[in-house]
Amino acid sequence: MHKNQQVILHAIPDGLPVAGDFAEQEAMLPALGAGQLLLETQFLSLDPYMRGQMSGRHMSGALAIGEVLRGETVSRVLQSNDDSFQIGDIVRAFTGWQSHAVIDAGAAMPIGFTDLPPSLALGVLGMPGLTAYAALTRLGSPKTGDTLLVSSAAGTVGATVGQIGRILGCRTVGIAGGPDKCFWLTGPAKFNAAIDYKNEAVRDGIKRTCPAKSAPLGGVDIYYDNVGGDILAAAMENMAHGARVILCGLMDQYNSSTVPAGPNPGLIIKARAHVHGMVVYDHEDARPDMIKKISGWIRSGDFIYHEDVTPGLENAPSAFMRLMRGETFGKVIVAVN
Ligand SMILES: NC(=O)c1ccc[n+]([C@@H]2O[C@H](COP(=O)([O-])OP(=O)(O)OC[C@H]3O[C@@H](n4cnc5c(N)ncnc54)[C@H](OP(=O)(O)O)[C@@H]3O)[C@@H](O)[C@H]2O)c1
Repeated sequence: MHKNQQVILHAIPDGLPVAGDFAEQEAMLPALGAGQLLLETQFLSLDPYMRGQMSGRHMSGALAIGEVLRGETVSRVLQSNDDSFQIGDIVRAFTGWQSHAVIDAGAAMPIGFTDLPPSLALGVLGMPGLTAYAALTRLGSPKTGDTLLVSSAAGTVGATVGQIGRILGCRTVGIAGGPDKCFWLTGPAKFNAAIDYKNEAVRDGIKRTCPAKSAPLGGVDIYYDNVGGDILAAAMENMAHGARVILCGLMDQYNSSTVPAGPNPGLIIKARAHVHGMVVYDHEDARPDMIKKISGWIRSGDFIYHEDVTPGLENAPSAFMRLMRGETFGKVIVAVN
C-alpha cells in the first residue's frame, strides 16, 4: 500500500500566501476499484487561479479548509484496472497537490505527444498554451503588422501569446517586471520590444514601444491582459482604432481581499462576455432599417417615447444644465421656433 503525501489548505491567505496557510499530511490510498488507476504524480502544475480558489473567488469553486489543494498533474500509471491504460503510461489528470492518487480511468487524459518533455503538458503544450493560442487566434484576430502588447509577458501565457503573435506577423511588445525578464523577451523569445514596468512608468513604456498611428488614438492593435489594474488601464489608454483587448488574467488582484473599484474585468472573464467599442458613425447604413422598424412599432403602439421639451433658444443653457444634472426625462429638445 502506497502512502500518499498531501498538501492541504490550512488557512485562507490574507494577502500574499504564507507558509502557515498550508499543511502537509499523510493519507492512506484507497484500494483500486474496477476501472480505476493508481497514479504517481510526476509534475504538479501551479497556476495563478489557485490563489482564487483559496479565497473562494475563482469560477471553478472554493477550496475548503483542510481540503487537498487542487491542480493538474502529469502522472505515471502505477497500477491499472482499465484495459486502455498500461503500467508506465504517462497521463494528465487533475489529481491535486499529492504524491499519488486513485482515479477513474475516464479522468486520465493522454498528454498528446511523446517526443518532448512531458512537463510541457502542463505549460506551453497544456492549459496555459491553449489559453494563449485560443484567445489570441480566436479573439485577437491578429493580422500582419499589428502591434500586439501583452502583460506578464515572461509568464507562460504571456510568452506564448507573444511568440505566436510574432509567428503570425505581429510586432510584439511585452510588459514584464525586471531587466532579466525583459532581456529574455527581446533576446531568446524574439519580442520586438519590452517594457520593464518596475523600472519605467508603464504609460511611457507603451508610448515608446507602441507609437500612435493616428492621434488621438494610440498604437496598440491587440492588448492581451494577464494582470488587470493600472497596466490594463494604461494599455487601454493607448488603443489603436479597432483594437482588440483580451482579458485573460488578474495577477494584480489575486492577492487582494478587495475587488478594485470600477467594472471588474473578472466579471467579464467569468461570463465570457464580449466587450466592443461602439461608434454610431460606423453604422449609418443601418439607419433606413432602424427608421422602418421603430416607426412601425410606434404606429402599432408597441413602442413609447418621452420628450423633455424646453421652449425658446434662450432657455437652451438651462435645459442643458438640467440635462447634465440628471433632471431631465427623455429626449431633451429645445423648441426654438
Ligand atoms: N482566462 C483563462 O482561461 C486563463 C487561463 C490560464 C491562465 N490565465 C491567467 O493568465 C495569467 C498568466 O498566467 P500564467 O500561468 O502564465 O502565469 P504567470 O504569467 O507566470 O504569472 C506570474 C507572473 O505574474 C506577474 N505579476 C504578478 N503580480 C503582478 C502585478 N501586480 N502586476 C503585473 N504583473 C504581475 C509576475 O511577472 P512580472 O515579474 O512580469 O510582474 C509573475 O511572475 C494569470 O493571470 C492567469 O490567471 C487565465
